Amino acid sequence: MLFARIAGVGSYLPGKPVSNNELAQRGVDTSDDWISTRTGIKTRYLAEAGVTSSELAFEASRLAISDAGIRAEDIDLIIVATSTPDYIFPSTACLLQEKLGNQGAMAFDVQAVCSGFVYAVTIAEKFIRSGSHKKALVVGAEVFSRILDWNDRATCVLFGDGAGAVVLEASDKPGVLATATHADGSYNHILSVPGCVSRGQVVGDPFLRMDGQAVFKFAVRALTDVAKECCAVAGIGSESIDWLVPHQANIRIIESTAKKLGLPMEKVVVTVDQHGNTSAASVPLALDAAIRDGRVKRGQRVVLEGVGGGFTWGAVLLEY
Ligand code: ACO
Repeated sequence: MLFARIAGVGSYLPGKPVSNNELAQRGVDTSDDWISTRTGIKTRYLAEAGVTSSELAFEASRLAISDAGIRAEDIDLIIVATSTPDYIFPSTACLLQEKLGNQGAMAFDVQAVCSGFVYAVTIAEKFIRSGSHKKALVVGAEVFSRILDWNDRATCVLFGDGAGAVVLEASDKPGVLATATHADGSYNHILSVPGCVSRGQVVGDPFLRMDGQAVFKFAVRALTDVAKECCAVAGIGSESIDWLVPHQANIRIIESTAKKLGLPMEKVVVTVDQHGNTSAASVPLALDAAIRDGRVKRGQRVVLEGVGGGFTWGAVLLEY
């Protein structure tokens, strides 16, 4: 049987960590106590002006390609999940392709906000399982700091910039075992950046707007249900997974989800304290951290899961 197997991982965070206290010193009307208690976030990384998602994606991809022991030219599929692309077009995936020196791979972006990486892995797995592609580079990369209203303390403290990448390759060893992905566009209003570009100008509001409590409730329900659904597709119970790598939005969302799944927090990878919510980059950033520090080992069962604007949500069960 043909599987899509993770051959390499990498991640990148720009610059130095910015603490909650530093945000307050920079003029945000907030405190370390408020942010820590409600979200678990301690620091985030904010890219310098002019640094783009494709640049962060390149740094993470370099590491993932090297970890996989392949060359950039061996890759035949590049998918970048991002809601903060460098340009309207060309895609960030094409800009990354040029930076990597790859020619000829199929390259495109996926826009599913914080579920983007899980959507992109799901798509890449289908290409690999079909036999049409052999080596996929799947990246989540964001400069969310560019779409934040720094006068809105209820949102600007939650997010950060970063990138994470995996190389998925065709293998007779497992691999991705099951996927489950969904969307419900009727929830578009609870989390959005409602502006658009028309006739050379931004029309409407170019900043992230959120109904925090509605998002909280939706996220816990979606993350719980989709992890169970994904495990059911593979014929296992959620209690028999070794690691849950959830979207890193908020420690209270993560803890509530783990509780509903009957998973102890020792089996849950948490990095939100270090980098805040990096949207599509959050799952691969967390996965990379847990592989690097030796927690996630070859042969273990891992569930990656995301939820985000749209609303979109999804999970991938894999054997690492
Ligand atoms: N610092 C200090 N005070 C603040 C801040 C801040 N950064 N932000 C809001 N407040 C104040 C509010 O003004 C309000 O004050 P008031 O009572 O005087 O009016 C008070 O704190 C409570 O505000 P709420 O919005 O009711 O706070 P809540 O307890 O709901 O917590 C939070 C807000 C943390 C955003 C919570 O709703 C949440 O975690 N939601 C999930 C949102 C999330 O994680 N989104 C990520 C994007 S979506 C995704 O990735 C899936």
